[in-house]
Amino acid sequence: MTNPLAPSWLTPPEDVNALDARVWPKNTVRRDSGELEFAGVPASELAGQFGTPLYVLDEQTFRENAKHAKAVAERVAAEVGTTAKVYYASKAFLSTEIASWIHEDGLNIDVASGGEFAAALAGGVPAERIGLHGNNKSLREIGRAVTAGVGAIVVDSEIEIERIASAAGAQDKIQPVRLRINTGVHANTHDFLATAREDQKFGIPIKDAPALVAKIRAERHLKFIGLHQHVGSQIFSPEGFVESAKRLIRLHAELLSNGDIPEINLGGGFGINYKPADQAPELEDFLEAIIRAVADECKDLGIAVPKLAFEPGRFIAGNAGITLYNVGTIKDVAVSDSATPAVRKYVSVDGGMSDNARPALYEAEYHAVLAGRSSDAAPALARVVGKHCESGDIVVRHDYLPADVAPNDLLAVAATGAYCYSLSSNYNFLTRPPVVAVLNGTPRLIIRGETEADLFTRDLRYQSDAAQKAKGN
Ligand SMILES: Cc1ncc(COP(=O)(O)O)c(C=O)c1O
Repeated sequence: MTNPLAPSWLTPPEDVNALDARVWPKNTVRRDSGELEFAGVPASELAGQFGTPLYVLDEQTFRENAKHAKAVAERVAAEVGTTAKVYYASKAFLSTEIASWIHEDGLNIDVASGGEFAAALAGGVPAERIGLHGNNKSLREIGRAVTAGVGAIVVDSEIEIERIASAAGAQDKIQPVRLRINTGVHANTHDFLATAREDQKFGIPIKDAPALVAKIRAERHLKFIGLHQHVGSQIFSPEGFVESAKRLIRLHAELLSNGDIPEINLGGGFGINYKPADQAPELEDFLEAIIRAVADECKDLGIAVPKLAFEPGRFIAGNAGITLYNVGTIKDVAVSDSATPAVRKYVSVDGGMSDNARPALYEAEYHAVLAGRSSDAAPALARVVGKHCESGDIVVRHDYLPADVAPNDLLAVAATGAYCYSLSSNYNFLTRPPVVAVLNGTPRLIIRGETEADLFTRDLRYQSDAAQKAKGN
């Protein structure tokens, strides 16, 4: 029965044990025993071997998503007579292993800091296949990227033009750069809002672009390779992308009068399903709409369609990852302020906002199921919360779980592959969980979990006390 505390989009599931294939990694099944398995590895085995909380990454799902993004972009681009490159937005989830998958599968990678750049290089990605972003790159970050031969640096403000030119000049190199444009289109989940002046830190307003492109073109050590945009994230409708891409193409056409511009980078942000109620369009729907709109606009303007680039992050990583938690305490909280008195079941798990900050940061919604067993109990409205000292420490804000959920149950939260590990912290001195990749029945630890000792590695008093003790003082 519907709980009055439930939001309108959430209905009690007919079967609390069911798995919606759109939100789970491809190889997730509920065994006859009731337990979940991920790529052939049972949840209890994962929890037993690696502990909880645990990030589990289905390698096949991740890599198929990556290859799918590349294939769709290339196919649709070819249909309008051009080519497309796909950069994986590595901020979604990065390790050297993940970088190596991206490279092996023929994608490029985009990074937003010197650290991400170092991880991509360490994962074997050639520098020329890396794009460097950031609204405040340090001179050191710029210098290192230029030295390594980074494929492109995205200029985000005027001052960066001389900074990048000076780094390239000092090394007698010619550095390819893009210019990030703020088209004034802010594409939200279900609607988009076009404002003349977008109030945010990224990019250059369209009206300022011609002067800055001229400035880039005047630098001997820079090569202008094209415009860039990123209109937002977790976007559910192609309309905002289309409007923004058209504006960018019009600017691109205007700039052609002063020189060739080989590419245009239209960013990422393609929405995914986090919970069964979500209805994200297919990637094909986004890319078909955007690329065809670009081609139509180019035709109207009488210009050739430039080479295209896209930067999906969560589309590749999101549904490839899940988080396994162990249930600790449970409280049925009677909430009397709704018209009909109702109860919400608070289910506390052994992680929380330190391994998934998105609910606290963006009020993001997730979906959870029992992972260690199935249940015949009726669905009960539940809130899965973490163990931090914050009432906003929520993992799954609204969902139905079987009413008999109990301490020591394993819970799996779907679609935690993007922006969970990468946004993780040590808040309350919790240790960050390990990451295990699963493939064909085999789990493989790709990032070990932190230990309590790790929490003190940078605490100098602790280290000096430990050194004294070791000396016997
Ligand atoms: C410049 C840029 N490109 C790509 C992305 C990836 O976005 P998403 O993971 O939503 O596809 C981001 C995300 O913040 C971004 O800032």
